Order: sequence, then structure tokens, then C-alpha cells
Amino acid sequence: MSVRIGFVGCGGIANAHMKNLVKIEGAEMVAFSDIVEEKAQAAADEYGGQAFGDCREMYDSVELDAAYICLPPFAHSDQEILAAQAGLAVFVEKPLAINMEKAREIEAAIDEAGVMSCAAYHWRYHDTAKWAREALAGGPIAMVLGWWMGGLPGVAWWRVQDESGGQILEQTTHIIDMARYLAGDVERVSAEMALRVMTDVENISVPDVGTVNLRFESGAVGNITNSCVPPGWKNGLVVIGDKKTVIFDQFSFELRTAAGSETKTFQPIAAHFRESEVFVNAVATGDASGILSDYSDGVKSLAISIAANMSAESGEPVLLADV
Ligand SMILES: NC(=O)c1ccc[n+]([C@@H]2O[C@H](COP(=O)([O-])OP(=O)(O)OC[C@H]3O[C@@H](n4cnc5c(N)ncnc54)[C@H](O)[C@@H]3O)[C@@H](O)[C@H]2O)c1
Repeated sequence: MSVRIGFVGCGGIANAHMKNLVKIEGAEMVAFSDIVEEKAQAAADEYGGQAFGDCREMYDSVELDAAYICLPPFAHSDQEILAAQAGLAVFVEKPLAINMEKAREIEAAIDEAGVMSCAAYHWRYHDTAKWAREALAGGPIAMVLGWWMGGLPGVAWWRVQDESGGQILEQTTHIIDMARYLAGDVERVSAEMALRVMTDVENISVPDVGTVNLRFESGAVGNITNSCVPPGWKNGLVVIGDKKTVIFDQFSFELRTAAGSETKTFQPIAAHFRESEVFVNAVATGDASGILSDYSDGVKSLAISIAANMSAESGEPVLLADV
């Protein structure tokens, strides 16, 4: 069966997904929508299919099996809800929303409709993440350290706190999600954030540095530190397990034990590719077991970023149960 896909948002990441989907057997891109209709038209010109300036018109007039929702955090309103109500599987870019109210509203609509979903945490599809899970399996996790030392993404909405949620919500969410994937759910966070050196950027309201302490439900502890000050450094994690340490990022992996150090690397083919391949296959077969993060799981990762922002603002620790 071919899976008929419509896009909502045709910006940077949507175009990356399109480049993958065109190579994935069974994926058929049939419609594209964006509030800037020229972007939808450019995609339709490249891949075939129809272009729309509004996803509602797309849902009403094109027969679809799945929607790729590739919107900035602030722009999620009813796009997923209408897709779910129309019976479409939804693939939603991280972070899932700008606040918990919207994420929970969407989650409820997906649950009620009973449609398949994927929260697009593509790090989960990296070999390095799989190796980390395997190396740490069966033993307790003691500590997770993570960092996202990036630069400032060029899109205008990113530097506005109310639109992106800042680095901890926007990009560091990948590291937070990895921490959950390896060490389980988080009970409490406390955060410090500041805008220190990027004050010359027009319209900036996001902090440019931040650090978040985590207490996991298991009793493990952790810290995730991030920045958007260029040129940045790198993104990755160190996980201390039962007398073993795993150090990894998207492309490299090291396991340190008393016996020595084992390292592996892989060429970055493609966590994004795998993620879409798994999703398309899941929609085609009705078997969602290959999807490594569904919408509800993604909401739990979002909640940690929201809790961190709340803590940074109040100066108090925040329990995830209160988010
Ligand atoms: N997983 C990854 O590796 C990865 C990489 C980049 C971006 N992302 C995520 O993807 C999302 C989008 O990021 P981007 O870099 O593609 O941003 P972008 O600004 O390049 O693209 C967003 C697109 O959405 C459109 N849009 C905005 N509001 C809309 C609305 N209400 N209806 C329809 N279209 C609307 C814009 O016109 C734009 O074309 C963000 O949440 C970002 O975090 C994920």
C-alpha cells in the first residue's frame, strides 16, 4: 500500500523530510501546505501534488493517509487535531508545542481518534542511541550528563522566547529526550538561565546559556547544559551506569569499563531517513511497534523543558507532577 502524505509547514526540516520521503518505497507526497503558499508551491513543483496556503483546505480536498506537521513551536494550533479527526496518522516535529496546554489538547485528540503518531525525536533512530541502550541495559543508571552547545538558528522565530521556548525547549529537547530514553522519567528539575552575550541580536528574548539539574524517578541524577552562543561546541551525552560509562553523540560512541574502552563510529546516514522509513512502514502495515516515540511519549520530553523554563523563572525547583 502506498502512504499518501500531506505536509503542514514546508520550511527547513520539512524539505529535509521530503528529500528522504522521495526515496522511501511506499511513500507518496501528494499535498503541501504552508501559510506562505509559495513554499508549498515550490515543494509541489519539485515533488508533484497540490499546494495549499491552509492545511484545512488540504485536509478537505485531498485524500491522505498521513500528515507531516513541521511547524515552529508557537504555530501548533489545530493542525494535528484536524488531521487526527480526519483519521490521518500524524508525524509531528519536536518540540511538540510551546506549552503543555496545547500539547495535552493535541494528545487527547490523537488518543480519541486512535490514529498512529510519531514525535520526531530522530536521535532515537541513531545507531549510537541503540548502542547506548544496549550497553546500559539491565543495570541501574547513576547519572546522565548532557549538553547542546549550538549556535543561533537563522529563523526569526527562534530567538523569541514566546515563539520557540528558547534553547532548552527547541534543540536541547533532543538531549532531554535521550536522557529519558536511557534513564526513564524525571521527577524534579531546577534550572538557571541567562542572556549574557547575545544581546546585540535584534529582537532576542531567549536566554543564551542555561543549565538544568534533574532528579529522575529512578533516583538517578543528571545535568543538561546548553547554549546558543556561536560558534558552539558539540552536542552529546555521558551516562554513568553500573561501573560503566557511555559517552555518545549522533556520530560516535564510547563504552568505558574496567576492561578498557570500546569505541564505534558511524557515518551520519540517517536517523531522519530511518525515522520516516519506520513511520511510513507503520502506516502502511498498521503495526506501530517500530515507532520509537509516539506523541504521548514526546509530551513527556516536552514537559521537562517547560519545567526547566518555569524553574529558571521562579528560582525554585519544579516537580514534573506540577507541570
Ligand atoms: N528534528 C530535527 O532535526 C529538526 C531540525 C530542524 C527543525 N526541527 C523542528 O521543526 C520545526 C520547524 O523548524 P524549521 O527549521 O523547519 O522552521 P522554518 O521556519 O524553516 O519552517 C517552518 C515553516 O512553517 C510555516 N508556518 C508557520 N506557521 C504556520 C502555520 N500556522 N501553518 C502552516 N505553516 C506555517 C512557515 O511559513 C515555514 O515555512 C521546529 O519545531 C524545529 O524544532 C527539527
